Amino acid sequence: MQSNHIILKICHLSQSLNNNLILKDVNLNFQSSKIYGLVGTNGSGKTTLMKSILGLNYVDSGQIIFKEINIENGQHEIQRAQIGSLIEEPLFPNNYTVQQVLAEQQALLKVKVTRNYLDKLLLLLGLNRKLETKVKNLSLGWRKKLGILRAICNFPQLLLLDEPFNGLDRLSVHQVEEILTFLAQQNTCIVIASHLIQQLQELGAELYWVKNQQITLLRRADKRLADY
Ligand SMILES: Nc1ncnc2c1ncn2[C@@H]1O[C@H](COP(=O)(O)OP(=O)(O)O)[C@@H](O)[C@H]1O
Ligand SMILES: [Mg+2]
Repeated sequence: MQSNHIILKICHLSQSLNNNLILKDVNLNFQSSKIYGLVGTNGSGKTTLMKSILGLNYVDSGQIIFKEINIENGQHEIQRAQIGSLIEEPLFPNNYTVQQVLAEQQALLKVKVTRNYLDKLLLLLGLNRKLETKVKNLSLGWRKKLGILRAICNFPQLLLLDEPFNGLDRLSVHQVEEILTFLAQQNTCIVIASHLIQQLQELGAELYWVKNQQITLLRRADKRLADY
């Protein structure tokens, strides 16, 4: 059953990096079961927002509230197990097999998911055929898919994906879209940073424009879409 309650609130968030103000007084609400797209030119602050949500940046001011609990600056580690993320390119221990990567992630986050759920994800991404393959022998696209799988293997309630379609062939893009649609149906709130607006639109994502330290809703007929 789907519910559309607000799961993540960003309130008056200002974020500097090395004394450069990247985001200024940003206010956003994200709902369960919905897909959001962050678009904007390189260096506009998409990755920065995701890192701030994950507690990887020390915020200047403002609050980040996940399920009614403040999580800015990495407080409340316990909530983090419910957030899946892939920020920039995935890193893995090279000698691990695909299976070991997934086992480690599940042990780390201590979240139990059903075998059915994991099998479905493996099958949808075609990674079921690669379980015994060492990560160092995977191509870039397969590593990306493994990064996505690692981000979702614990059935997160909030999923942050930074440029998830980069480096993927058409079939893989389609597989990832299918998985994201499935997760949204299961109530996951999904936030995707991508310059591939078409993919975001295919997913029915609500689009936000990151520019000049601000993040604003981008409507379908918005003239700014023509810049893409
Ligand atoms: N660790 C850092 N220290 C200082 N500045 C940074 C750091 N990381 C990113 N930036 C700067 O923050 C701005 C936003 O970067 P980023 O969030 O990565 O943009 P996007 O993901 O939209 O391409 C850029 O101007 C970038 O140079
Ligand atoms: Mg980025």
